[in-house]
Amino acid sequence: MKIVNVVGARPNFMKIVPLMTAYDACEEIEPVIVHTGQHYDEQMSALFFHQLGIPEPDINLHVGSATHAVQTAEIMKAFEAVVLQDKPDVVLVVGDVNSTIACSLVAAKLGIKLIHVEAGLRSFDRSMPEEINRIVTDSISDLLFCTEQSGMDNLFREGVSEEKIFLVGNVMVDTLLKNKSKIEKSNVLNHLSLNGCPFAVLTLHRPANVDDPVAFERVIDALEIICEDMPIIFTVHPRTRRHLLSSSLGERVKRMPGLRLTYPLGYLDFLRLMSSAKLVLTDSGGIQEETTILKVPCITLRENTERPITIQVGSNTLVGNDTDKIIEAYRKTVSGPRREPQIPPLWDGHAAERIVNILLEKL
Ligand code: UD1
Repeated sequence: MKIVNVVGARPNFMKIVPLMTAYDACEEIEPVIVHTGQHYDEQMSALFFHQLGIPEPDINLHVGSATHAVQTAEIMKAFEAVVLQDKPDVVLVVGDVNSTIACSLVAAKLGIKLIHVEAGLRSFDRSMPEEINRIVTDSISDLLFCTEQSGMDNLFREGVSEEKIFLVGNVMVDTLLKNKSKIEKSNVLNHLSLNGCPFAVLTLHRPANVDDPVAFERVIDALEIICEDMPIIFTVHPRTRRHLLSSSLGERVKRMPGLRLTYPLGYLDFLRLMSSAKLVLTDSGGIQEETTILKVPCITLRENTERPITIQVGSNTLVGNDTDKIIEAYRKTVSGPRREPQIPPLWDGHAAERIVNILLEKL
């Protein structure tokens, strides 16, 4: 069974690794990695392959950045040629990025079995490009693997047949648990002179927070107060850097000594940084899950989450981008009593093995 595994953007890379390892254990599967090139910088892509030991992609489509329509269309054109030539039995996509939906459409239209890993998540906010990607990908997938019960419930509600849906756990957690000792060995705290002092970590890249200067300024207003209390390590995504440099906000953040800007970090350094932080402020999806496993409080600068389990288990708080709400959540997190979050069901490091076993049985 030839399986083409699609990766494109930073959050895809750590999800594909445990699947590659699980395929190694079965002779019946011939895996191929196709990198769309949606992310292409050393820090956003190559570093992850290197640190996580992902085999070099068999094919790189080198599509790069563009508008949503152009990026999606370019991936579709290039991926269709690959599928027609390579004739895989299965195309497997992960997550919710433009590479996910583009390759899903190609596979479905060529009648190739389509597998979606991390299916069923819903923010119920269609202004997020990722929500459109999730809905369309799920609606054309043949087998759908969910990380949490809400994903199963959403798919049932949308009429997806029960035989196609499986709760298997979280492949991102597989990677985190497998790399625990390597993460502990990272020197990042020394490099950033953070040993022993409390600090917060910040990531921000959602269009709703960084493309709108008014919203971005509301977040910066909150950061200005918080970073007087403890340093904030802000690993700046390329999209965010662009918006900072093209507005007066760039000059403003440079004048905030407690806000320490870095380039995007590699996987091991970033996980080490988060694991030692007092708290993490983010608008990412995956970081809400990683902080749950690391048992570090997460304040999510969004109005909604497609990962409600992280709220239910008590590790994540949704605050949006209102200045006062961010500051209030920060104060509550650092001063209030905290109950230890529970680990969600099946987030045990074996999701990829479950997926591969089901693939062998069903296909
Ligand atoms: C994408 C995903 C998002 C994911 C995020 C993680 C979609 C719709 N969005 O958002 O779900 O959380 O990746 O990073 O697929 N850029 C670079 N170098 C790179 C990649 C991007 O400089 O290696 C810059 C480009 O200027 C580009 C911008 O970042 O225009 C946005 O990149 P893009 O991949 O379109 O979306 P992200 O915001 O990264």
